[in-house]
Amino acid sequence: MHTFNSAQYSIEVGPIEESSFNSVLLNNYAHSKIVIIVDENTHDSCLEYLLTTFDVLKEAEVMLLPAGEENKVMEVCFQVWEALSEYQIGRKDLIINLGGGVVTDMGGFIASIFKRGIDFMHIPTSLLAMVDAAIGGKTGIDLGPLKNQLGVFAHPKMIYVDPIFLGSLPAEEFLNGYAEMLKHGLIYDKALWDKLKVMNDLAQLADVETLMQCIAVKQTIVEQDPLEKAIRKVLNYGHTVGHAIEGYFMDKDPVAHGHAVAIGMLAEAHIAYKRTTLAKEAFHEIETIILQHFPMIHLEEEDITEIIRLTLHDKKNEQNKINCTLLSAIGDSMIDCFVSPEEISEALNYLTIYKINLN
Ligand SMILES: NC(=O)c1ccc[n+]([C@@H]2O[C@H](COP(=O)([O-])OP(=O)(O)OC[C@H]3O[C@@H](n4cnc5c(N)ncnc54)[C@H](O)[C@@H]3O)[C@@H](O)[C@H]2O)c1
Repeated sequence: MHTFNSAQYSIEVGPIEESSFNSVLLNNYAHSKIVIIVDENTHDSCLEYLLTTFDVLKEAEVMLLPAGEENKVMEVCFQVWEALSEYQIGRKDLIINLGGGVVTDMGGFIASIFKRGIDFMHIPTSLLAMVDAAIGGKTGIDLGPLKNQLGVFAHPKMIYVDPIFLGSLPAEEFLNGYAEMLKHGLIYDKALWDKLKVMNDLAQLADVETLMQCIAVKQTIVEQDPLEKAIRKVLNYGHTVGHAIEGYFMDKDPVAHGHAVAIGMLAEAHIAYKRTTLAKEAFHEIETIILQHFPMIHLEEEDITEIIRLTLHDKKNEQNKINCTLLSAIGDSMIDCFVSPEEISEALNYLTIYKINLN
């Protein structure tokens, strides 16, 4: 069992059966009500293992949420709050969030608002939630089409990361997690990038050591800057262009979040190699690895114009300028780089050469 300890919580990575989970529940919540929040898929694929492994959960209430980002909304929170009230859940009780990033984001938000905050734990079940969403204390929900507009910083009591849950994760969801793992390597840890870039079988990502390295990057960064005033912004690498691509195609031909972020990282790497110390060879390495797993998305000139228009509305912008994190080398990055629409246009236009080979 590998443990990260921070002032507010611990993360344990390894088989949950060998973790402190059972003893923490027995020692701290023996007289509490326990609620487990799942979505439809983690209900079917992950819940039984948890319930049959831990006797201490035999009285737990299970709350089933509809799966998917479109359900990360206030209406669903209201239903859960009403149910919590009906079950007379109080300040000494516990919520366990068993699911991907939607369940950990929304379950954390639900717990931290209810009665001004009750204890919660995360058991992330998607690769993305294990290495990213469940770590760092951001909870929240979407407001209409705007992602993560409502939320609070709140820490779970414990996070248990057990790769056993990845056994049922669909292949495309592995890719979403892989994109964020590559990001962690690119912004902060060259050795991690070097390890991840040669993984052709994504099942290899479900390895405790690799998960640990990715979690360590996120945890190290958020500990230095929990409220995202400075260095935490490095985690936004690839997300300015990536979110714009994701948002633009949402109503047309949706692009998976990880895919959009991967192409966003590539575009932002192109901008970096043109203006920072990121070497041309490093850019071409990033280009090769990303395109191996995430084919270039077909973009016409009018698509690029609209994507750039969306980057101008990014919530990370400051003084009406497009604010990106740019790489200065593989494993090193710089926050608060203002980029121009022309630079994004040049990067995306450069990448359109790939439509010939890959579409
Ligand atoms: N709080 C943060 O710091 C942070 C960081 C990154 C992302 N996020 C958020 O995380 C969310 C994305 O997370 P996600 O990719 O895990 O999405 P998700 O929770 O929607 O999970 C993806 C899909 O996989 C299914 N699933 C999850 N675990 C499974 C398992 N073990 N077996 C079978 N199916 C399983 C889910 O039901 C869902 O259909 C977004 O809402 C994003 O905003 C938050």
